[in-house]
Amino acid sequence: MAVTADSTTGVSATYDRYQEIRSFDESKCGVKGLVDAGITKVPRFFIRPPEDIAVDDINTGEWIDTQFTIPVIDLKNMDSRRAEAVAGVKRAAEEVGFFQVVNHGMGNRVLEEMLEAVRGFHEQPREVKEEYYSREVMRKVKYVSNFDLYESKYANWRDTLFCVMGPDPLDPQELPLVSRDIMMDYSNKVCQLATVLFELLSEALGLKSDHLKEMDCVKGHALLSHYYPACPEPELAMGTTKHSDPDFLTILLQDDIGGLQIFHQNHWIDVPPVHGALVVNIGDLLQLISNDKFKSVEHRVVANHIGPRVSVASFFTPHLYPSTRLYGPIKELLSEESPPIYCEITLKDFIAYYDSKGLDGNSALPHFKL
Ligand code: OGA
Ligand code: NI
Repeated sequence: MAVTADSTTGVSATYDRYQEIRSFDESKCGVKGLVDAGITKVPRFFIRPPEDIAVDDINTGEWIDTQFTIPVIDLKNMDSRRAEAVAGVKRAAEEVGFFQVVNHGMGNRVLEEMLEAVRGFHEQPREVKEEYYSREVMRKVKYVSNFDLYESKYANWRDTLFCVMGPDPLDPQELPLVSRDIMMDYSNKVCQLATVLFELLSEALGLKSDHLKEMDCVKGHALLSHYYPACPEPELAMGTTKHSDPDFLTILLQDDIGGLQIFHQNHWIDVPPVHGALVVNIGDLLQLISNDKFKSVEHRVVANHIGPRVSVASFFTPHLYPSTRLYGPIKELLSEESPPIYCEITLKDFIAYYDSKGLDGNSALPHFKL
């Protein structure tokens, strides 16, 4: 048995961390299973040092813009207001890396039904859910708690249903019955919205509107349906470790609980729930191909006494079948003043590196710098 020192208290104790995470994994019922079992203390493998949870990572004492809020971009009447939308997207992608969109064309009904179905999936009896519990890399539909359970230092207080919806169309029969129809519907609609956003982002980079689409940015689509149960000791654990996303773009649907924060100018800023809005953020791959013009910003989800919180992240990147195509800084964006910052990579290399690292609080991008 491995005997380890407790890194959080410095007290040496007999504690077999590997055995603990293994039995948690083998229970196949995730964090929700712990809560259902009535635990009142967070198990040790979730507990992280206080500085990991602190409100501000770096207390520089500098001036902070306390009025700062995440930009909201209105996509209504795009024909007549296109230039305004492009300007808004450009500013947000360059300066914040995050924005919310309203009047995006996905009706409230679809958003509400999607959140309801995800809650429904995670609240099914264990026997139904465990069929889907898997860490198999190539499995298209799987339910798992902490994809990086064995790699990361501290576990996250969340469970996830992970579904690869494209580029190859997913056979709906593979999806859990409780969420099957709405997931197909939501996925189609969110892909249409992504196409519009990639057009605006292309224009914001000064490129033809179909440039990013031609680079297959919208081709691969994975839906990550997260469930963050109420946490008995939120001051000791985290819903999601600070990270940036391993894709071109993420479109996130969150319910009204809150907890998502982005790291902006050395401070953690809340992304407040806005009813009917979707949160959009630039992923690492778009930062790489835009040669740092757009920012892939670190974000996290704090744990909460109140819950469950449900969110659905749509990742745009070909996750399972990354082509051998090379991705590097877009040639049209390079000049003498703006030389390439990154080397050309395949998405396979990128994903392999990101996954091997797990969510450790560090960006994957520096690894690919020239
Ligand atoms: C993610 C993510 C945030 C949330 O899935 O990468 O950051 O609110 N999710 O669940
Ligand atoms: Ni994320």
